[in-house]
Amino acid sequence: MAKTKTTFFCQNCGTQHSQWVGQCHVCKEWNTIVEEVIQKEEKRNWKQGSSTDRKVRKPQRIADIQINAEERISTLNNEFDTVLGGGIVKGSVILLGGEPGIGKSTLLLQIALGITKKVLYVSGEESESQIKMRAERLSNSDTNCLILTETNTQQIFTSVADVNPDVLVIDSIQTLHTSTIEATPGSISQIRETSAELIKFAKETATPVLLIGHINKEGHIAGPKILEHMVDVVLQFEGDRNHNYRILRAHKNRFGSTSELGIYEMLGNGLREITNPSEILISKKDADLSGIAIASTLEGIRPLMIEVQALVSTAVYGTPQRSSTGFNLKRLHMLLAVLEKRAGFKLGAKDVFLNITGGISIDDTAIDLAVIAAILSSNKDVAINPNVCFAAEVGLAGEIRPISKIDQRILEAEKLGYKTFVTSKYNKITVQNPKIRVLLVGKIEEVFATLFA
Ligand code: TYD
Ligand code: MG
Repeated sequence: MAKTKTTFFCQNCGTQHSQWVGQCHVCKEWNTIVEEVIQKEEKRNWKQGSSTDRKVRKPQRIADIQINAEERISTLNNEFDTVLGGGIVKGSVILLGGEPGIGKSTLLLQIALGITKKVLYVSGEESESQIKMRAERLSNSDTNCLILTETNTQQIFTSVADVNPDVLVIDSIQTLHTSTIEATPGSISQIRETSAELIKFAKETATPVLLIGHINKEGHIAGPKILEHMVDVVLQFEGDRNHNYRILRAHKNRFGSTSELGIYEMLGNGLREITNPSEILISKKDADLSGIAIASTLEGIRPLMIEVQALVSTAVYGTPQRSSTGFNLKRLHMLLAVLEKRAGFKLGAKDVFLNITGGISIDDTAIDLAVIAAILSSNKDVAINPNVCFAAEVGLAGEIRPISKIDQRILEAEKLGYKTFVTSKYNKITVQNPKIRVLLVGKIEEVFATLFA
């Protein structure tokens, strides 16, 4: 037997250290270095290694390489398929991360039950009866889904060989351990080793593997960063604890775009796919309220209408407060400075609070104009017509700048029944005769004049 060897890993970033130290010199975290037992690796010359255990591959001209179309398995869950770029690619390894209780197990169980292929759902976190209870809540009884509660990868592979599943689901990578090394489950070396085994399995048998991963306090997937490099797709399941909406994003996707987004609502009987997100993100109100503006934004290729709310009030203390939920605070400061300088609004003595409803956060700069409109509306206490929506970036000189995919945004706003679409006059709009009135503006002052005239 090879002699056992121990080494020291930072539990935060996965860096290996030769001895225990108080602070990891890479991520600067304190008290994260833990000793782990690993088995001494056989030292092997790369030449011998490469020629003995696999067949020698010859370099090929890129023109001669044959492309085999990726075979994809549809999960029958539209949002999930879209985020993946059209279904699960055979032999791919997908890692799903998210906060505890956000619904990772629910999502993957729902997918395991929904898929028409044979799925093996391996859980190291819950008992069979717990999973059964959850499955009953989801009211989706499928006989093709097999449940296994096991944490040892060798045992899992034995079962896999027995049942020969089309898709393997693992809940979660942090509970697995392999017999080849002695470290405890969840440690850096176990995660690295077990995921390497699963990835090898996926590639050799063309069976897709869906892994659930815990996240650490910074929101990254717990374990070595290398895990995210090794897998093909990294999905993040996020949402606000106080809202029922959950957003599924791809942070990395070797088979599709990372700009797609899936939206779900957590209900008593599982996750419901939200196919028309704009409707849920806009609060229904009876009276016209000031401080509200509708923005047309894009998440991936999907246009999304969101509601921006602002509250401007007189600052009680010396320094005015600025707070923002779902919108970059630095950008809010910038927009306020632009308003102050270019449009002469004295916001310096006012508190400004900004909120994107629905608990989602938006990076798209096209919502700048709606942010400004909401702030102005609250400041003046004049409501904006609820049939008006905005889409434009605002520059430092107070100019209204063009944005991408303008046609798509106009069509979406038209479809949802908006009457006026305010955007930059520098956009190249190709939509012919839209039913919606497109109002083109070039400067902040013009917006102000048209809205509150
Ligand atoms: P879970 O999938 O266990 O989260 P994770 O695996 O990410 O830790 O989700 C747990 C939460 O979801 C729990 O607070 C209850 C809620 N839930 C529902 O609201 N409806 C449902 O149908 C299910 C199964 C769970
Ligand atoms: Mg879970």
